[in-house]
Amino acid sequence: MASFLVLHGPNLNLLGSREPDLYGSTTLEEINARLSGIAGEAGHRLESFQSNAEHELLEKVQSARGRGVDMILINPAAFTHTSVALRDALLAAELPFIEIHLSNIHAREAFRSDSFFSDRALGVITGFGAIGYELALRAGLHHLTRKNR
Ligand code: DQA
Repeated sequence: MASFLVLHGPNLNLLGSREPDLYGSTTLEEINARLSGIAGEAGHRLESFQSNAEHELLEKVQSARGRGVDMILINPAAFTHTSVALRDALLAAELPFIEIHLSNIHAREAFRSDSFFSDRALGVITGFGAIGYELALRAGLHHLTRKNR
């Protein structure tokens, strides 16, 4: 059994009503429910957490290893482009992580192309909307199963 921690950064609590042309109409609750369903059916554990506060995300990452998390799936949202602290926490945790963005960050304002996470992520999924989270979970499961063989 694998254990996943899904982290959502600032403003992602507004999904569904936030700039739907960019981010789609699926709510965060719907995304989390879908991920829990997929993980649960396959016999894995998945916890989701959203915060607008950087320190709360840091604390989740810092405690992840101690709580038996195997992999982190993270949409750092605006912290993608600003947070050395969150990057450092992920590196300190020494857990594989996948970076997710609903929109294609490379097809928007130039500053969004810069990520403090991509160079250390297992992989990056950007531009596929809510389905990107599912793709990340499936890629993460594939990675962990392959590693344990
Ligand atoms: C985002 C892209 C970021 O640039 C932005 O700040 C977000 C959401 C995305 O999922 O497309 O809040 O991470």
